[in-house]
Amino acid sequence: MPLAMFTGGSSWFVREAARNLIAEGWHVALTDINLDGAKENVEDIGAGDAATVDRLDVTDIKAVRKYAAGLAEKNGTIDALVNVAGGSNFLQMDRPPFHETDPDDWQKILAPNLFGTLNCCHSVLPHMVKARHGVIVNLASGMGLRGKANWAIYCVPKAGIVRLTQTLCQELGQHSIRVNARWRVCFVWRAGEAWDVEIVDYHQG
Ligand SMILES: NC(=O)c1ccc[n+]([C@@H]2O[C@H](COP(=O)([O-])OP(=O)(O)OC[C@H]3O[C@@H](n4cnc5c(N)ncnc54)[C@H](O)[C@@H]3O)[C@@H](O)[C@H]2O)c1
Repeated sequence: MPLAMFTGGSSWFVREAARNLIAEGWHVALTDINLDGAKENVEDIGAGDAATVDRLDVTDIKAVRKYAAGLAEKNGTIDALVNVAGGSNFLQMDRPPFHETDPDDWQKILAPNLFGTLNCCHSVLPHMVKARHGVIVNLASGMGLRGKANWAIYCVPKAGIVRLTQTLCQELGQHSIRVNARWRVCFVWRAGEAWDVEIVDYHQG
């Protein structure tokens, strides 16, 4: 049974993606700092034995590495990694222009979005490379492509995720590993077909 590891497991995006993958015979490993939210998602979709739920802070690279190693050991490898954790919920609600933002707040957005994605890719990829097989999907945002006034601290990590994705594509094709980014939060996500839709989305920008 193929295995997909998700971060941001309490989000609606992961709930629906997990629902679709389970219907296609996948096992899903949901992780989040919000363990109760991820558990609710698993209950909502009636995942039963097809899902596991664990608390994981993606900004803690030691914890991420340990979790990925355990998952790979149990399953043989990790077939897919979907980096969803992050978002913009920690941004100040009044969203001032960049020069008025408080540098003490930057890490709240940069750490889960950018370093979380780096940590998870870095921890999972050795297992995929060893297996010569795998797919990574990184949640970017249109703001990471074009920028948006008063959203600099969210645009920056999302731009980094786009560049990371492009770079990993170039590095990992030789290992038969696909890496995609997406920014539209709407999806018809079917394993196999949908990965191609992701790539088309990416190039159409
Ligand atoms: N909502 C949108 O319109 C939109 C548009 C484009 C891209 N995105 C991206 O899609 C993804 C999901 O967005 P969403 O709106 O559903 O946000 P969300 O806040 O519902 O989901 C983000 C998840 O990340 C988790 N999280 C935060 N910090 C974490 C950490 N340190 N470790 C582990 N988990 C952590 C949260 O608990 C939450 O479950 C995000 O990456 C977001 O940037 C969202």
